[in-house]
Amino acid sequence: MKKHSLTFLFLIFMIPLCLISQEEYPNDHLSKEFHEGRRQALRELMPPKSVAVFFAAPVRNRANDVDYVYHQNPDFYYLTGYREPDAALLVFSEDMAPGGCKEVLFVQPRSPIAEMWTGRRLGKEGAKSVLGIHCVEDNSAFENYPIDFSSFDKIYCFSFKGDIRNTGDKADLFDLERVFREKTEAKRDEKKLRVFMQELREIKTPEELLLMRKAIKISAIAQTEVMKAMHPGMSETEVQGIHEFVYKKYGSEYEGYPSIVGAGENGCILHYIENNRTKLDNDLVLMDVGAEYHGYTADVTRTIPANGKFTAEQKAIYDLVYQAQEAGIAACQPGNTFSSPHIAAQKVIDEGLANLGIIQKGVFHKYFPHGTSHYLGLDVHDAGGRGPLRPNMVITVEPGIYIPKNSPCDPKWWGIGVRIEDDILITETGAENLSAFAPRKSEDIETLMAQPSPLDQFTLPPLDLD
Ligand code: GLY
Ligand code: MN
Ligand code: MN
Repeated sequence: MKKHSLTFLFLIFMIPLCLISQEEYPNDHLSKEFHEGRRQALRELMPPKSVAVFFAAPVRNRANDVDYVYHQNPDFYYLTGYREPDAALLVFSEDMAPGGCKEVLFVQPRSPIAEMWTGRRLGKEGAKSVLGIHCVEDNSAFENYPIDFSSFDKIYCFSFKGDIRNTGDKADLFDLERVFREKTEAKRDEKKLRVFMQELREIKTPEELLLMRKAIKISAIAQTEVMKAMHPGMSETEVQGIHEFVYKKYGSEYEGYPSIVGAGENGCILHYIENNRTKLDNDLVLMDVGAEYHGYTADVTRTIPANGKFTAEQKAIYDLVYQAQEAGIAACQPGNTFSSPHIAAQKVIDEGLANLGIIQKGVFHKYFPHGTSHYLGLDVHDAGGRGPLRPNMVITVEPGIYIPKNSPCDPKWWGIGVRIEDDILITETGAENLSAFAPRKSEDIETLMAQPSPLDQFTLPPLDLD
């Protein structure tokens, strides 16, 4: 067969393959226009003759030959969409870089051998076409890149933690940071960069909100599936597995933070992640979990009785947290201070605990030891300046009451830990609860838990090793 016939055949076969492969991958990532817009927004905050410098997150070693799953520095991702390590980004206030560039991205080079082991790389050309950044260099060009950092009035950069491995690659993150530090000694401003990034990231764009709605709805659906499936014979790990299985069914890549599933006393440990109790029995189960979808995370907590029915004590504490959360959500109004949901929730909890005889009125207590709200986005505790609430901010409202064993109250309350957490979008006129799909009222939870689950039929053979 002649060469051009071979080429023709190749093309005939490749066209449907290309179509199939495109359909097989998610196409709802943030667009390059989004990232370009964010870089421009940053530039507009910067004074003349300044540069902002960002480094990719380090690769973290788990043990021996195994690294943790790579997670990009959220600021870096926000500004570029680049999801690979050993990279740096320079954003200039004006087109001050060689070639009239207003920004330069340094990326790890293509490498057939490295890519065979650790995955595909965009490389320079890929970064240009996929990320839409015009000025891209290999990271090895960073050291001798012709930029005189002393010519800038301001150099914005986050501080270095000194905890990065030198892998031996001549332009890995270790070297990128070393070179930069040597060139910019004593001129770097971290505080102001933090303020810039908070100002940008605390207000979500429509593209971001779409991904956040997905992450949050997926997480809320998982909570409802767990409500149907849970029974006292389950383990904490198994409950965690159901949440995470539902996330994957919807194409959510990761969890936004390690899943917290704590039964009874374990629910009183705020960030309990061992999740290794083998039977839930008749305890309350606190589940603080969130899917991460294309970088954006949810953060949704439900606390439910393993056997489907709250005891009188469990219900008294649960309903009090619910009322506190309602007060907190009602305080989510544009113009209100960032702390207003917390102040509202705290008041309800203090009064309610006193009415139940758990504390004396007006006495300091430790049963609600954390804040009520944080921003949510690329980070579960997202960047934000804690100024007045504004439209298109997303914050959590998550009051809780935790009464561990030996607390100074009637032992009938011991071992009860309740948190209810929802993800609230501040709107022009009020607020929208993005996680409302998962029931919160104690009666609604009991009704849903009485329903059958498809997982009731999912049985596995005994782990019989004889
Ligand atoms: N999941 C961590 C938190 O609620 O803040
Ligand atoms: Mn939270
Ligand atoms: Mn949480």
